[in-house]
Amino acid sequence: MSVPARPFEHDGIAFGCDYNPEQWTPDVWDEDIALMRDAGVDLVAINIFGWAHIEPRAGEYDFSRLDDIVERLHTAGIRINLGTGTASTPAWLTTAHPEILPVVEDGTRRYPGGRQAWCPSSPVYREAALALVDAVAARYGSHPAIALWHVSNELGCHNALCHCDESAGAFREWLRARYGTVAEVNRAWGTAFWSQTYYEWDEILTPRATLSSRNPGHVLDFHRFSSDALLEHYRAEAEVIRARSEVPITTNFMVTAHIENLDYWSWAGDMDIVANDHYLDHRLGDPRSELAFAADLSRGLGQGAPWILMEHSTGAVNWQPLNTPKAPGEMIRNSLTHVARGADGVCFFQWRASVQGSEKFHSAMLPHAGTDSAVWREVVELGGIVDRIGEIAGSRVESDVALLFSWESWWASQSETRPSQSLGYLDQVHASYRALHANGLTVDVVAPGADLSAYRLVVVPGLHLMTEADAAVLTAWIAAGGTALITFSTAIVDENDRVYTGGYAGPLREALGLHIEEFAPVAPGLALTLTDGSTARLWSERSRTTTAEVAASFTDGPAEGMPALTRNIWGDGTAHYLATLLSDADYRDLVARLSAEAGVAPAAPIRPAAGDLEIVRRRGEGASYLFVINHGETDVRVDSDGLDLVTGAEVAGGITVPAGAVRIIREEAAA
Ligand code: GAL
Repeated sequence: MSVPARPFEHDGIAFGCDYNPEQWTPDVWDEDIALMRDAGVDLVAINIFGWAHIEPRAGEYDFSRLDDIVERLHTAGIRINLGTGTASTPAWLTTAHPEILPVVEDGTRRYPGGRQAWCPSSPVYREAALALVDAVAARYGSHPAIALWHVSNELGCHNALCHCDESAGAFREWLRARYGTVAEVNRAWGTAFWSQTYYEWDEILTPRATLSSRNPGHVLDFHRFSSDALLEHYRAEAEVIRARSEVPITTNFMVTAHIENLDYWSWAGDMDIVANDHYLDHRLGDPRSELAFAADLSRGLGQGAPWILMEHSTGAVNWQPLNTPKAPGEMIRNSLTHVARGADGVCFFQWRASVQGSEKFHSAMLPHAGTDSAVWREVVELGGIVDRIGEIAGSRVESDVALLFSWESWWASQSETRPSQSLGYLDQVHASYRALHANGLTVDVVAPGADLSAYRLVVVPGLHLMTEADAAVLTAWIAAGGTALITFSTAIVDENDRVYTGGYAGPLREALGLHIEEFAPVAPGLALTLTDGSTARLWSERSRTTTAEVAASFTDGPAEGMPALTRNIWGDGTAHYLATLLSDADYRDLVARLSAEAGVAPAAPIRPAAGDLEIVRRRGEGASYLFVINHGETDVRVDSDGLDLVTGAEVAGGITVPAGAVRIIREEAAA
């Protein structure tokens, strides 16, 4: 049952942080709040990990310290993003009920001492958590300082996949609701294979560690179940809050590289406003392009509505193998990239750097070095900019390009046994996005099956799992005049992970005008060359065209002489197909050609061409706002007229955006 969204209302763009005052004494709180005001902080998340503090013993609450913090923030005019406090269980709870501890795939339990040590399907955990939420909501639900509810924290960050007996029972219930009978489960998973047939519900377990590879249909459904189990938990907390408070409710998503456990397309409709946490991942080749992708996806989850960046970092994190600080100005550029891409709030983890605990080497707004630091000065500078651009809040990002993305494809494509272990779903997604980003194009990331009528160019990178219905939406959109670029490994399996036969990409086969017979992956390190001079790697395939034209073929490798890039007229539109992973430069050039053909261009003309830039337009009621974020080392010139909200300067006939700088131009209202 869908519940009408409660709007998150805020004066301008929210600027804030996670605040963990329980790590400090009250004299520090005074300094914190004074400095928050200096920096322009106006939205603070508290009580995220508050459980052990506010419920020291089962059913015994002590809100004295939280009351104090709430009043201090309120008096300072700082609004509160109130955590329900259920993210991390207190020791008394897991001591009394060790059965709530999660079990990993080898059947061993994980112990308390970290965080999120709870099974998403545990009724004992659920009952204790909801009692806490009720107590918190009863106490603060109508407090004027509470602007937003923050349910739990990054649900599923550590505990998404639990294999305990309670989870196995809940998984069977979930399967019963989806399939009705054991026979249908057998059919969906293809258990005729390897004598895996089930006869009774109780025979079905979670996909625990096996000696050989597991049944991929089983694994896929376990992902679906696990995402739903945590969503059910979110809903249970939200329902308790709703009975006590009118304030909007959300939780912080993890739309970021490497975290694939939740299908946020199915979650997003439950959020009063989408909120995301994003950290630059330096293990990726191009972390900045991934940032832009994550921001575009966060906006897509809210169907284009403004969202909140609930956490990011001022500098280094503490959980990558090498934790790199940000270059001068990078924090401001990254923050404003999120705003450019639709965020109406910029928040950080965390306010004051911890001196103890496992996050003591994680950056913060107020670093260990204190206010005499480059990080603090940049925080204050950003606070000033966020304040000056407040009128942008509520405006929406303009885009003519969509990229189809799905968590189900991510799950299905990373099966233990697949054509190549050297390629993952995100490799293709990120490569496609990088090519769009390098062309300065703004991209909406949308779910398969979404209405595409607003777009001129649609890119479908490796959408391994595609239903016939979603394929039909895409092919109908192409036939109506759209230009699509579809890349290899798309539409290989249906919703039950069953291969479409008769030539790969089954439901797209006719629109692509191709007969794809065999995958021919290529070892890492081997380069492929195409007849148009492009270079490629990791993948090729053996196919022939039926109605498509060949734009380039493989000159070498296991698919030598066969099509690498094709183009098929389909109705009034064109379906391009790319059967390999192009080098970044060649991919960028291909997207440049296709975008010209589709009539899409960057938000404004730039000289020299895109490169290290973000150029995005948000359109509001009375005006539009052109964001130009220059990450590069050379100045760029952008055609624009209006008022630069960052510097206050008038802009007439164009603006030079210096290397490393950001300009946000309020353009003349459209006629
Ligand atoms: C997030 C989390 C925060 C903090 C942060 C560190 O995953 O929500 O509590 O741990 O990462 O980067």
